[in-house]
Amino acid sequence: MENSYWLKKWEQNDIGFHKNDTHPYLLNHFSSFIKDTHNNVFVPLCGKTIDMVYLAQKKLHVTGVELSEEAIRAFFNENSIDFTINSNVFSSPQVDLIQEDLFKIKVNKYDLIYDRASFIAIDPNKRNQYWDKLKILMHEKSYYFLILLEHIDIMTKRPPFPVTPGLVYDYWGKDKVNLIHQEKVIPPPKHSDYDQEGWTESAYIIEL
Ligand SMILES: C[S@@+](CC[C@H](N)C(=O)[O-])C[C@H]1O[C@@H](n2cnc3c(N)ncnc32)[C@H](O)[C@@H]1O
Repeated sequence: MENSYWLKKWEQNDIGFHKNDTHPYLLNHFSSFIKDTHNNVFVPLCGKTIDMVYLAQKKLHVTGVELSEEAIRAFFNENSIDFTINSNVFSSPQVDLIQEDLFKIKVNKYDLIYDRASFIAIDPNKRNQYWDKLKILMHEKSYYFLILLEHIDIMTKRPPFPVTPGLVYDYWGKDKVNLIHQEKVIPPPKHSDYDQEGWTESAYIIEL
């Protein structure tokens, strides 16, 4: 996916991926991936997800990265959060949103990474590059909370791009990955032309 694909989606308000409620997996599993030592969280490809409000309410400092200025401004405005702008960083005391391509951001270390609809938005041929980038943002005590759409043998032509079960284990290593949730789902409306069977949504906690 070219960056222009996403910018156009925001321009046209074609943002079916955005949810108005906090993601249920985040609500249900937060306590399993938070540690006393965790102070900050990185949200790649953050859009204007309201999940960042939940994470901030949990006293984590949130850093998001997002291509679209429109999405970033909408996040602050729709949640009535005052912000300042310094170059490409939009900041409130608890949340910094960087308007940038994830692949170009400077390296920092984060205690948590929260990934919902982000890995599956990435062009499948850039998946390793995406995970290589996230890996260098983690330290030895970081957790990566990853929510995926999976299908055994379908690869769609447009996002969300489903993942074959096993891909996570192959990249991160079986002993580093904990599958904490899996349920059958119907495919997103944009994939109604594909087989309706065999889709699952899964949540993983991953360590280095
Ligand atoms: C499918 S949406 C998911 C947004 C968010 N995670 C959520 O749950 O609503 C993917 C987002 O990633 C942004 N994006 C795509 N490629 C990006 C990149 N290389 N760097 C930063 N943001 C990107 C898009 O603008 C879009 O807002």
